[in-house]
Amino acid sequence: MIQGRPSTTALRAATYRAHHQVLDQPLVFDDPLAVKILSPLGPLKLPPRTSPVRAWAAARGRFAEDALHAARSRGCTQYVILGAGLDTFAYRHAGSVLPVFEVDHPDTQAWKRSLLEQAGIAAPPALTYVAVDFARQSLVPELARSGFRPDEPAFFSWLGVTPYLHESAVWETIAAIRGLHPRNEIVFDYLVARSELSWRSRLAHRVIEWYVARLGEPLRFLSAPPAIRTHLEQIGFATVEDLDCPALNERYFRNRPDRLRIAGRIARLVHARA
Ligand SMILES: C[S@@+](CC[C@H](N)C(=O)[O-])C[C@H]1O[C@@H](n2cnc3c(N)ncnc32)[C@H](O)[C@@H]1O
Repeated sequence: MIQGRPSTTALRAATYRAHHQVLDQPLVFDDPLAVKILSPLGPLKLPPRTSPVRAWAAARGRFAEDALHAARSRGCTQYVILGAGLDTFAYRHAGSVLPVFEVDHPDTQAWKRSLLEQAGIAAPPALTYVAVDFARQSLVPELARSGFRPDEPAFFSWLGVTPYLHESAVWETIAAIRGLHPRNEIVFDYLVARSELSWRSRLAHRVIEWYVARLGEPLRFLSAPPAIRTHLEQIGFATVEDLDCPALNERYFRNRPDRLRIAGRIARLVHARA
């Protein structure tokens, strides 16, 4: 991230979700506030074509909220959204008693709060903002200061963030989450190491790398799927799912007339619990 500026990739991800609401039927990820939260930035510009990145943004939002739903039925009583960006879960469930903690870089969080205010979207009582720079601060003390209950199981989502962190920060954060409570669960996404990819996917990787570096958010963390599983096991998490793009297409985009789907195999979505 560029110091003093909100995350540009957070704006990109939110824009893909807004495009999905307007352009795609049926919806994979139903987010009635996705357009409204961006309204202070002016009229939404719509792209001419279906985009595989839009499909990815929709799939990961849906995957996380489906896993949250299942985790709640297993007794998780808190939801922590790490690197929340312009996520609207808390505002879509404003009447819910589920405590939600939005953790994000202070610059992105301040920008989001100003967008929410301008858009007339109120922060619900069950929501707490926690400003954390993962590159410099540890998650747990900041959460503890914010009313998070370490004695209660929690569900964590961490979408679109690991690629921008150093590997040590990724695993320290996941280990800290595991250490908080034995019934904690996490969903996160990661970019697949180039050594695992076809030449075509490697090319797509290079394009993304160049693109996000230009936005001031260079890629730092990539991993092979077996290494993810091994690290999670060492930490004490079992991998419930580690889905590649074809598996996500099968789950969320089968038989769509508009051909919306994720391309390649460069990213994966993980759900882990003890
Ligand atoms: C691609 S956006 C994803 C936002 C949101 N999770 C989504 O899916 O729309 C990346 C997010 O990671 C956050 N982030 C990046 N580096 C960070 C850091 N060092 N500390 C805290 N948050 C960071 C950004 O502020 C941004 O909200």
